[in-house]
Amino acid sequence: MESLLIHGSVPLQGEVQISGAKNAALPIMAAALLTSEPCVIRRVPDLSDVRFMCRLLQSLGAEVEFNNGMVKICARELKPFADYELVRQMRASVCVMGPLLGRLRECVVSLPGGCVIGPRPIDLHLKGFAALSAQVKIEGGYVHAKADRLQGAEIFLGGRNGSTVLGTANVMMAAVLAQGETVIESAACEPEIVDLANFLKAMGAKIEGAGSPTIKIHGVEKLHGAEYEIIPDRIEAATYIIAVAATKGEAIIKGARPDHMHAVLDKLLEAGVLIDWNNKNGTIYVRGTENLKPIEVTTLPYPGFPTDVQAQLMALMTLAPGISVITERVFESRFMHISELTRLGAEIQLEGPTAIVKGGRPLSGAPVMASDLRASAALVIAGLAASGTTIVHRIYHIDRGYEKIDSKLAQLGARIQRIKGE
Ligand code: EPZ
Repeated sequence: MESLLIHGSVPLQGEVQISGAKNAALPIMAAALLTSEPCVIRRVPDLSDVRFMCRLLQSLGAEVEFNNGMVKICARELKPFADYELVRQMRASVCVMGPLLGRLRECVVSLPGGCVIGPRPIDLHLKGFAALSAQVKIEGGYVHAKADRLQGAEIFLGGRNGSTVLGTANVMMAAVLAQGETVIESAACEPEIVDLANFLKAMGAKIEGAGSPTIKIHGVEKLHGAEYEIIPDRIEAATYIIAVAATKGEAIIKGARPDHMHAVLDKLLEAGVLIDWNNKNGTIYVRGTENLKPIEVTTLPYPGFPTDVQAQLMALMTLAPGISVITERVFESRFMHISELTRLGAEIQLEGPTAIVKGGRPLSGAPVMASDLRASAALVIAGLAASGTTIVHRIYHIDRGYEKIDSKLAQLGARIQRIKGE
């Protein structure tokens, strides 16, 4: 296993280029299964999750090539079966269910199981498939869904924690080849859903309202191949902005979509970070200051403050003198980073879904353990801000969602290196 060795308290300075969005790339790659014609997808980040999705699509019979940010997928042959050994390694594998059902009228996909941030149910995905007239049953840890014809329907997809991103993606990908009209109510509004809808439209799908809570889909007979470029990763951009702020540095984030990041930019401005942005050329200027201010925030589905930036914001708030209050409303237990941040000297108390951060005490470096993708990012940010040396172990978690994070941070002047072993 590899670790990241960080010598902290070095202000980050310079420029960093944002990569394509992981959470757009994964469902869009799956959507290529909806046609037997070749698809070319660009600005795909080189991540372990993306390489894993390539393997999964190949296991379903698709030809897949991934070079220099471009993925070519051709699913001339296609099988409906996604094996447990593969699906259990990456939860997002569930997003092949919709395309398999849409194209083959059948899918046999292993249940993904939970992960450290929560049980991660897929009941809403299955509710959507059943509403489209698929027979859905769970047997032997697999979802078996089958339909003679998929019929469009009105589907309410809201769950107890609000909308579902991959649930919306899955139902949309099944509905594009269903008979008649489908209306998804309480759909996820994330930019990654809009990106998926745009790719599907490039393939010939008829979709209106993506990005709003009501998505209308008019089923078509067939979809054709398409070429498409993924949107930039708003969560990666937020992570680098927070890292620059935490080290009191000054940098320009390039190739971003500030218009996808209003909740994050607004909250960081409130915390006293100096930020300016240009929507036309996708640059974000950020400068950290001595006087960070405590904030209150609750994570919500888009356009609310993203749960995927909660851990990184918490790392920053450990540096803001005063009491910050961070409430996680999307996942049941997305606080694995608290115990490790505490090892670096942070003072954080958890009261149910709310973390009370008593900020202002300087952090000091220590060995810490990554547990999930965004918690790892929070530990890297804290290590960059801390005095002394921090080693973040098990950084395979971070390689799932951050392309070349050590070289991008080193380019910003961080004293960071990837080391073998624990
Ligand atoms: C997507 O996961 C993202 N992953 C997650 O990013 C992100 O945190 C999440 O959306 C929320 O924004 C990808 O896009 C690959 P959900 P997803 O279904 O779709 C509950 C990262 O760090 N729910 O929107 O799986 C669920 O338990 C990852 O990049 C049900 O109850 O999340 C959760 O509480 C982590 N029933 C809430 O909804 C369902 O059928 C939101 O989950 C589905 C979900």
